[in-house]
Amino acid sequence: MHIVITGASRGIGAELKRQYEAQGAQVTGTSTRGGDGLHALDVTDPAQLAAFAATVAGPVDLLICNAGVYLDKGEALDDGFAAATWTRQMQVNVAGPFLTVQALLPQLRAATGAKIAVIASAMGSQQRAPGGSYIYRASKAAAVNLARNLAADLAGEGIAVAAYHPGWVKTDMGGAGADIDPPTSASGLISRMKHLSVTTTGSFESYDGTPIPF
Ligand SMILES: NC(=O)c1ccc[n+]([C@@H]2O[C@H](COP(=O)([O-])OP(=O)(O)OC[C@H]3O[C@@H](n4cnc5c(N)ncnc54)[C@H](OP(=O)(O)O)[C@@H]3O)[C@@H](O)[C@H]2O)c1
Repeated sequence: MHIVITGASRGIGAELKRQYEAQGAQVTGTSTRGGDGLHALDVTDPAQLAAFAATVAGPVDLLICNAGVYLDKGEALDDGFAAATWTRQMQVNVAGPFLTVQALLPQLRAATGAKIAVIASAMGSQQRAPGGSYIYRASKAAAVNLARNLAADLAGEGIAVAAYHPGWVKTDMGGAGADIDPPTSASGLISRMKHLSVTTTGSFESYDGTPIPF
């Protein structure tokens, strides 16, 4: 099985890569700077995406769009959420997954029953709206929307797409006070992605299988 994981340098992406490799899968991982066996890829840069896609030999059985940023963490409604932060965060968390999928469509189509996982967040749920983190929430809501529309467009080709909440995870992004460690998140996600198929395509669920309300 050939798996591509964006944002595999640290956190959840690095642990997904470690666990898949331990299972014997071939993993192509990326990070913004590359090194340590990872390809250099900023998922917002079309030239880097084209160059990366040209190096990826197909078929790709599973693409995990994991790279993401949470730039507005802790910002206040009165003076936070700058325009430049909106631009960058929407680029990375929304355009990034879309452009990555688009760049790797030939390799995904070359597989039989390929899957695409968009690592979103429960913070992207429309029904759970406790306020705050406006840009992150909007970006992850858009990422879920993206996954569901890709699911509709690609189902006829046998490609399944789903959005996932990885849990609140102890990473650079989640912080030390988070609920679970990366191995717990990654093993849960791997189990859920294994069950993804064209009959469950378009779903949005947590690492432990709990459905997340749209
Ligand atoms: N941690 C949580 O509690 C939590 C909860 C819900 C959802 N999530 C989501 O889960 C995913 C992984 O989160 P994490 O906690 O593992 O984050 P993390 O520890 O901050 O790691 C983020 C990863 O994304 C990569 N990345 C950032 N910007 C990028 C860009 N422009 N192009 C390519 N790669 C980029 C980073 O690469 P570099 O090392 O090169 O910067 C790094 O590998 C994210 O999408 C996040 O939103 C996390």
